[in-house]
Amino acid sequence: MEIVYHERSNVFHLLNDTISYVMMVLPNGHLGQIYFGKKIHDRENLSDLLELAVRPMASYVFPGDREFSLEHVKQELPVFGTGDYRSPAVEICQENGSRISDFQYCSHHVEKGKPTLSGLPATYTEDATEASTLVVELMDPVTKVKAELCYTIFAEGGILSKSVRFHNAGSGPVQLERAMSLCLDLPDCDYEWLQLSGTWARERHIKPRKLTMGIQSIGSMRGNSSHEHNPFLVLKRPCATEQQGEVFGFSFIYSGNFLIQAEVDAHDTTRILVGIHPDTFSWRLESEESFQAPEAVMVYTDQGMNAMSQTFHRLYQKRLARGYWRDQVRPILINNWEATYFDFTEEQLLTIAQKAKECGVELFVLDDGWFGERSSDHAGLGDWTANTKRLPAGIKGLAERIEQIGMKFGLWFEPEMVNEDSDLYRMHPDWILSVPLRAKSHGRYQYVLDFSRKDVVDCIYKMMAKILKDAKVSYVKWDMNRSITECFSVTLPPERQGEVYHRYILGVYDLYDRLTREFPQILFESCASGGGRFDPGMLYYAPQGWASDDTDAVERMKIQFGTSLCYPISSIGSHVSVIPNHQVFRITPLHTRANVAYFGTFGYELDLNKLAGEEISEVKRQIAFMKEYRALLQFGIFYRLKSPFEGNEMAWMVVSEDKRTAIVGWYRILNVVNDRFTRVRLCGLDPGLCYQNTQTNSIRFGDELMNFGLVTSDVTAGEVPADKQPCVDFESRLYILKAVSISK
Ligand code: GLA
Repeated sequence: MEIVYHERSNVFHLLNDTISYVMMVLPNGHLGQIYFGKKIHDRENLSDLLELAVRPMASYVFPGDREFSLEHVKQELPVFGTGDYRSPAVEICQENGSRISDFQYCSHHVEKGKPTLSGLPATYTEDATEASTLVVELMDPVTKVKAELCYTIFAEGGILSKSVRFHNAGSGPVQLERAMSLCLDLPDCDYEWLQLSGTWARERHIKPRKLTMGIQSIGSMRGNSSHEHNPFLVLKRPCATEQQGEVFGFSFIYSGNFLIQAEVDAHDTTRILVGIHPDTFSWRLESEESFQAPEAVMVYTDQGMNAMSQTFHRLYQKRLARGYWRDQVRPILINNWEATYFDFTEEQLLTIAQKAKECGVELFVLDDGWFGERSSDHAGLGDWTANTKRLPAGIKGLAERIEQIGMKFGLWFEPEMVNEDSDLYRMHPDWILSVPLRAKSHGRYQYVLDFSRKDVVDCIYKMMAKILKDAKVSYVKWDMNRSITECFSVTLPPERQGEVYHRYILGVYDLYDRLTREFPQILFESCASGGGRFDPGMLYYAPQGWASDDTDAVERMKIQFGTSLCYPISSIGSHVSVIPNHQVFRITPLHTRANVAYFGTFGYELDLNKLAGEEISEVKRQIAFMKEYRALLQFGIFYRLKSPFEGNEMAWMVVSEDKRTAIVGWYRILNVVNDRFTRVRLCGLDPGLCYQNTQTNSIRFGDELMNFGLVTSDVTAGEVPADKQPCVDFESRLYILKAVSISK
């Protein structure tokens, strides 16, 4: 990896074995873009790739010149109003009302490794040789606002990360109205756009469309990254597949309102913008104040979608997630939510835990309903002390009893919320986000605490830290069950109300930071009514997240398949639950529910006491299997093989680093009579190794499995041979492949 600066041509070239990112100082002093993509040779005059042409109707920068128009050059920090009519990356409203700025190159320097972003989650290096960072400083000569553009290239993989920091070195205040973290101007628009979208219980479905002239965007203005759109975008060449072809991935390390947009102009160039959603943002910068915009990560590969995902997986698993749990296999847990909802006693919880222990489960998680007057979702949020009518010896007593059983104990919190019917609200009715004299909307009968206020965060921190100190808690599920409305903080002046959404998220990050520092051994799992805040920002603090409240195996195939585009398997919270399923009332076989949940953190969301004897034996086998293979399942190299969005079958697999072990998951939604022969072409194996398939006992070369494929044809669909069970709907199989030596 290298960052080259060519002084004569004013060109910057960031490159490693996979990618090149080229920029230059433009004739008008702005920072321009030349190229991002597969690695190219370095040379002094890459500036001659700057494309200029006479464009009738354009506005030009230099008197007498009819070529240099900001509308037609690729830029790093474009503004609106001086000839570029596309969406800008930055907008600064000044005291005289003007929004025009002119960011001129001042200086640059290169740092080893990667600097941290104050108060924000970000990727990091553990050793300075893992990455290099170029910091380019620009300044607007009128306002004296400085922009520090920070580019990190990692030594391995096609990763380029970008963030921006603004500093007001002028004497008067300015209002930052837009501060996008990333702007990338691609020279053409021949891409397919893939987004991860959905809603509650249907998160992160893959939605494709052809990139086309005009603006297309995804985003959130709900205060969280949202169930609706994930802060992630793929642009792939139309011919690119999972296994080959050019793909760009864009991911935003942020958990609040965001915008990801592509604007294709009349000459087919594409501007990508990634950042905090400008419609719900403004930030006042007094003299000498700074604003740090969050980090955006771009990945480029010419090896297809799987390679892009694997690059994100490695980066987010190893250099975004942190702490003790980062590299640990995750405990197999049982969660009481779908088993009891709000209706439980301590004895009942212990019976659930006892049975789970017998089956081999390692962690018991007590979900909602243990605190204050919380017997339904109408009351109690904000009162983080145990309800001793339910739990006579408090959380401490229950945790001890669970530990005596031989399991770890975990606990649910929803720190950012309050019910009107709570002591906290009665004491501090002004602690919620709401506009004075206006009606306030509730969501699930609850209100959002004003986490832009330090006193509010301090109070919640104290209550949570007390419980976590007093009792032996090994895991915390941190929930967030409604979006933000009436976003207003009574402590901020009118000109700072545009800061509340972002200050709120900074408050959430601050609380996460304090708790994860103080309790480094606790495993945090993030949650927001399922996957409403499943984003890289959360992953920095909580190495796993509850992917969806939908626990049906068939629904989960799409949710987890989509999630895997960006997020590592070790981060995907997935459990086996009862049938009929509580969300879609579907009945699926127990083995299929487990076969889907294995490709995640794995656990159970039911009362095992209610299962029949042979089901319990199956559960015991599942848990033993997961314990044996979870390191491979959670940390192996993951490949998507067949998409549930495209047909009746889905398949995915993981392969160990040394390629000697692999697990293939194959799933068929509906049974098919008299079906065609089916097979799955595997990936990532060693072509020259022989693999024994423990399902069929056959031995096959890696090249055969990857080219002819693994046969999944089903002999029982149609007529059932005497020695076989008939297949039904929602069938699935796991194939474990182990390298063996054979004598020739
Ligand atoms: C949310 C979560 C669920 C559960 C409930 C409890 O919906 O996603 O898993 O914790 O809250 O109220």
